[in-house]
Amino acid sequence: MPHIAVFDTGLGGLSVLKEIRAARPDADITYVADTAGFPYGPRDAADVVRRTLAVFDAVAAEHRPDLAVIACNTATTLVLPYLRATYDFPFVGTVPAIKPAAERTRSGLVSVLATPGTVKRDYTQALINSFATDVAVTLVGAPRLAEQAEAIMHGVCVADADLRAEIAPAFVETGASRTDVVALGCTHYPLITDRLVDVAPWPVLWLDPAPAIARRVCDLLPASNPDAPPHRLARFTGPVDDEPAMRRLLARFDLRLAEPLPAPVNRAPD
Ligand code: DGL
Repeated sequence: MPHIAVFDTGLGGLSVLKEIRAARPDADITYVADTAGFPYGPRDAADVVRRTLAVFDAVAAEHRPDLAVIACNTATTLVLPYLRATYDFPFVGTVPAIKPAAERTRSGLVSVLATPGTVKRDYTQALINSFATDVAVTLVGAPRLAEQAEAIMHGVCVADADLRAEIAPAFVETGASRTDVVALGCTHYPLITDRLVDVAPWPVLWLDPAPAIARRVCDLLPASNPDAPPHRLARFTGPVDDEPAMRRLLARFDLRLAEPLPAPVNRAPD
């Protein structure tokens, strides 16, 4: 039975896991989150690389996945070359859906809503230079939106006004034109799309990269005919405050909370 590891810093990667699970009901999945390091958005590049490699040392040793998905834009834009050079299984990354956004806009105004880390990476700029030169792209590094989404997933109340303040810069009006496509460049955001729709100043197309990631996984991993139900585990590097609530939340994604992973210690690339 194929085994897929799905990595994020918190619960955001569940938006990607959901699509992978639907596309690959035959696969074992281990969801791994560096919750001790959340959020990665404000961390510097070297720190993100060190932490992600340290987590994957443990994942490679304990799970030996056939494929890993980096369900985190902030890590993907920095760490993929290091991961690919270090481990012998393939990696699929997550990046903002800039190409589809450029193809689907009618007004020519698109926004990328992401963490402060993702919007300043060369990787993101390179995607714009390659695929979105004919449209106006507004990059919005939302300082607190990933944490707000994480809090909402934990059942904490987050006010509409606080969410509105995070997304407001993504809504641009120029003369008679206004933003009509927003690429969700952080995997936490699709988990709260219903809230974003409610507080948005006008309707837009919200683009979630998860379906494309699931298709890529299917391309890389041959389908199997399992003779047993798949194992679906979640492992975190940090403590879980309310374990019963977390177990209930994970059960919605068909995951069982398993023992913690060792929290990353400083790890330099090989
Ligand atoms: N979910 C992550 C992403 O896609 C980032 C959240 C964070 O750790 O800042 O970028």
